[in-house]
Amino acid sequence: MSASAETAILKTSHLLGIEGLSIEEIVGLLDLADTYVALNRAAEKKSALLKGRTLINLFFEASTRTQSSFELAGKRLGADVLNMSVRTSSVTKGETLLDTAATLNAMRPDILVVRHYDSGAAELLARKLDCSVVNAGDGSHEHPTQALLDALTIRRRRGSFEGLIVAICGDVLHSRVARSNIHLLAKLGARVRLIAPKTLLPSDAERFGVEIFTDMRKGLAGVDIVMMLRLQLERMTGAFVPSTREYFRFYGLDREKLALAKPGALVMHPGPMNRGVEIDSTVADDIEVSLIQEQVEMGVAMRMAVLDALARGLARGGRNT
Ligand code: NCD
Repeated sequence: MSASAETAILKTSHLLGIEGLSIEEIVGLLDLADTYVALNRAAEKKSALLKGRTLINLFFEASTRTQSSFELAGKRLGADVLNMSVRTSSVTKGETLLDTAATLNAMRPDILVVRHYDSGAAELLARKLDCSVVNAGDGSHEHPTQALLDALTIRRRRGSFEGLIVAICGDVLHSRVARSNIHLLAKLGARVRLIAPKTLLPSDAERFGVEIFTDMRKGLAGVDIVMMLRLQLERMTGAFVPSTREYFRFYGLDREKLALAKPGALVMHPGPMNRGVEIDSTVADDIEVSLIQEQVEMGVAMRMAVLDALARGLARGGRNT
């Protein structure tokens, strides 16, 4: 048993969403991730914490950052990592999610990282499988590791969340990143604003305890962090915005709109970006204000922290059999 197995960070053996996490669990993950930022900046990046463990990445939707950072995180912690390529698997022959997962389960993985277009897919698998399940994005429901890496990025820049005003702008309706961030930022004491056209706001947005703006210029006033979201065209049935050019004019972040936020305001984006749609290159590429590359770096560290926290549970009880 590794020394780190002595202290549990997560109370459950899965990470399915931010909604069910306590502040202590979140802060525990942020603190642990800080140690992995340091490891990742060293020449020797390897630890043996997950030696002998198997991690499977099962992604039913496209991913650049999330999948590669889980792969790197697993490898840096010494695990064997298998990336299941759904496009060449029997899913294309009609095999169901549960049958695919049951097949992988029989190979005795310790951790399954899953991204799926159905909200609730990760939870379903967590109920049916013997291994730990990490939700890497389920439909428009949650994307917990994205919110955690965003929080890590903010905390390292700003020290604390108390009193910070964070504006989440764009396609909130279809965004699992927005949902996870709303839960997380509220738990940590930040004030959250949603800025979007009415068609891209959830009808029950008020229940999240956030401030809502449909006018971006008004919404940005006094904001510390501006978090931009991509238009999730793949989740839209029909047209939610008149045209992308029109959308950029009213909701695209450029220098002129950013100037309305608090002086020194920082810009975030989970990626992938659509330049000229929700964000202008002059903002996205300005390293004085843009945290976008830093978010990617923090992504690897946070995913190492999550795998480490889950491994502590494995060390206590083995697979969840
Ligand atoms: C996001 C996702 O997949 O939810 N991307 C990511 O994980 N960094 C956001 C998006 O697809 O727009």
